[in-house]
Amino acid sequence: METVNQLLDSIKDVGRDAVRGGYSRAVYSTAELDLRAWFIEQAQQRGLAVETDRNGIIWAWWGKPQDGALVTGSHLDSVPGGGAFDGPLGIASALAAVDILQSRGTEPRRSLAITVFPEEEGSRFGVACLGSRLLTGAIDVDKALNLRDGDGNTFADVAKGNGLDPRHMGPDSEALGRIGDFVELHVEQGRGLGENGPAIAVGSSILGHGRWKLSIHGQGNHAGTTLMADRADPMVAAGQIIVAVRDTAARQPDARATVGRLTPVPGGTNVIASRVDMWLDARHPDDAVTAALIESIYKAARDIAAGEGCTISLTEESYSGTVHFDPGLSQRISAILPDAPVLATGAGHDAGVLAGHVPSAMVFVRNPSGISHSPEEYVADEDAAIGATALAKVLEGLL
Ligand code: GLV
Ligand code: MN
Ligand code: MN
Repeated sequence: METVNQLLDSIKDVGRDAVRGGYSRAVYSTAELDLRAWFIEQAQQRGLAVETDRNGIIWAWWGKPQDGALVTGSHLDSVPGGGAFDGPLGIASALAAVDILQSRGTEPRRSLAITVFPEEEGSRFGVACLGSRLLTGAIDVDKALNLRDGDGNTFADVAKGNGLDPRHMGPDSEALGRIGDFVELHVEQGRGLGENGPAIAVGSSILGHGRWKLSIHGQGNHAGTTLMADRADPMVAAGQIIVAVRDTAARQPDARATVGRLTPVPGGTNVIASRVDMWLDARHPDDAVTAALIESIYKAARDIAAGEGCTISLTEESYSGTVHFDPGLSQRISAILPDAPVLATGAGHDAGVLAGHVPSAMVFVRNPSGISHSPEEYVADEDAAIGATALAKVLEGLL
């Protein structure tokens, strides 16, 4: 029997990021594979039967795999230089919750599974929640298989290299049918839980969110010989577009828009770039407002690009509308955790993708600063323990 803190402690050296600090655990990197192996070993130590499905989702079963099971899970991959808790807290809490239930001699009335979803962050192949999207059919299989990582490897090739058969990837109604109810415990990623109040909350909704790629084309040239007046520099356009993204979103209540990644091509100190690719993450509760926001940003970007003698294109890479978690399941969880407030989140989760298909709900654990996707993400040991105990209670109540 191990506590959630002991479990997290046992993976604290896996995938440390030497540049930013925190963790870089991209899907199917050595770090993420080490974590998957760690999870399988932990599950087997608890007598759980482990299988990896055709989309690379790991299932650890307490009881026989069966339709309508109670499933809890999260992910082990991270953003580049992310925190210790986003993903692993849900997995470690699920293992600790099984320990608590087994030590009490709980006899599950239906099977319970812990799932580990691959590529929740979309840090390697660009589309978040790739595992749950494949499972549910929320992404076209060919589109998924043709996604490329930063080194040009296709998802199909990487999946193949990790023992999966790309021909069999995609919607899996059999696996999905096994989820009767899905509960994901996750670190809170805003300041929704005050320092002195309850340490946990029940999730209500996920903000609609999407990712778009903007490519600005200019004239690649020599940094020393090209007069300032003669340039068509896509980096100069990119800088102005980033400010326009910020300003456009700031004018729209409840909107968030971010450019967190930008690649100049070819990227040389003495080279005026030929092209700049930049990725936009935009979120708003109302899908129509998000669409209008993207349209305004694109219009501003086109004008800016033209002003710099450049052209621009925009491609939607993924979109997930606002999700409201299952009211019946969430109310049952609230009845089990009567002191837990109900909280919306601006972060995406596999529970949000699954919510369109099976009753899904979330439990959040306090992160006092609200900082996440950063090495400074933090959960106090006492709060992690409260979270794992709460998850055990929830699972027991739903089993
Ligand atoms: C995932 O954490 C996201 O919200 O981007
Ligand atoms: Mn995340
Ligand atoms: Mn997460």
